[in-house]
Amino acid sequence: MDSIIIRGGRRLGGEINVQGSKNSSLPILAATVLVKGISVIHNCPYLTDVDAAIEILRHLGCIVKRENHTVTVDSRFVSRYEIPDSLMREMRSSIVFLGSILGRMGQAVLSSPGGCEIGLRPIDLHLSSLRKLGFAIDETGGKISCRKQKTLTEGIISLSFPSVGATENIMLACALSGGRTVILNAAREPEISDLAAFLNSAGCRIEVGSQGTVVIDGVKRAGDCEHTVIPDRIAALTYLCAAGAAGGDILLKNVDFSDFLSVIPVFEAAGCTVQSEKNTVRLMMNDRPKAVRDIRTMPYPGFPTDAQAPVMAMVSIARGTSVIVENIFESRFKHVGELKKMGAKINVEGRVAVIDGVRSLYGAHVESPDLRGGSALVVAGLVAEGITTVGCVSHIDRGYEKIEDCLKSVGADIERQALPDS
Ligand code: EPZ
Repeated sequence: MDSIIIRGGRRLGGEINVQGSKNSSLPILAATVLVKGISVIHNCPYLTDVDAAIEILRHLGCIVKRENHTVTVDSRFVSRYEIPDSLMREMRSSIVFLGSILGRMGQAVLSSPGGCEIGLRPIDLHLSSLRKLGFAIDETGGKISCRKQKTLTEGIISLSFPSVGATENIMLACALSGGRTVILNAAREPEISDLAAFLNSAGCRIEVGSQGTVVIDGVKRAGDCEHTVIPDRIAALTYLCAAGAAGGDILLKNVDFSDFLSVIPVFEAAGCTVQSEKNTVRLMMNDRPKAVRDIRTMPYPGFPTDAQAPVMAMVSIARGTSVIVENIFESRFKHVGELKKMGAKINVEGRVAVIDGVRSLYGAHVESPDLRGGSALVVAGLVAEGITTVGCVSHIDRGYEKIEDCLKSVGADIERQALPDS
């Protein structure tokens, strides 16, 4: 298991090219199953979650080639509709393949994705929506077996919560169906629009409204297409947190500033100067951060839950007390215990974390509890006095392409130590 070693105390300066979005690449790779042709996907990041999705595509009968950040998927000969447990275990968000396999094959068998480090991750909204659309779904023995009961006709699905995954699965299951499906209270994350853009480039007809409505007019066939994945807004925010904590002046390139407007006030309240033009964003910070009183994670366009952990790392050294409320996932504070090993003063009551900023953190050996918690520990290591070793880097590699190289390129004293798997 690799570790990342950081000697804290360096200010950051320079440019980072932000990777393509993990949370857009994964549903788009799943969507290629619907395409009876060749899909060319650009700006696809090097992530272990992307590797897992590619393995699933190959298992289903796709021919997948990768050349740098371009992934080409030939899904003309998809022949399977089952994903074995071994592949489902690699990545719980493989559940997004359910909709695309159903859309192509009319049936699907997957193992239940189960929970993960940040919560139970139920899929009741996915399954109830698919049932409403006419799929028979049986959940026994840890397997989910689905089969189209009747030709999908017109349908209106109103989600009780704007679930990203449920929205994506409905889009994928209905893209090639007969009639019109309307999703109300759909997720509004930028990744939803990017998935629709990919599908439309293959000949589908999906319209994402601005008020959480998605209209899918099923088409007979999806064919050859080419698409460029949007930038990863959470990776961008993580690097901004690094500069906000360590101080300095960094420029992020290939970002869409409009994708994270709800977090900019947090950086400004912390005392950062943030400027953006075209597809870049610059953050300057010359002082210790100030506390940010009231951060509440919400569905998009609210403050993103995926940015909660790195922002907590930034405000752990702030002047004053910050409060973060995690409204989306029920156990997404596992990084708190590790930050406290570095001297952070944080109290958690249920979904509320109270962070009393300390003047400095000190280096320690800490373990990544999950993907974004791991990135938070890296941010904390950049400002801690002395050496920080972050273990279980495999969590971080799921969602960040070469995080250590990105941070090293802007002056961080950071190395990856590859340890033989024990
Ligand atoms: C996606 O997860 C992202 N993952 C998550 O990013 C992100 O945190 C989340 O959306 C919210 O933005 C990918 O896109 C691969 P949800 P998803 O369905 O689809 C509850 C990261 O770090 N819920 O919107 O699973 C659920 O329990 C990852 O990159 C139900 O109750 O998110 C949670 O509390 C982590 N029933 C809330 O909704 C359901 O059927 C949000 O879940 C589905 C969800």
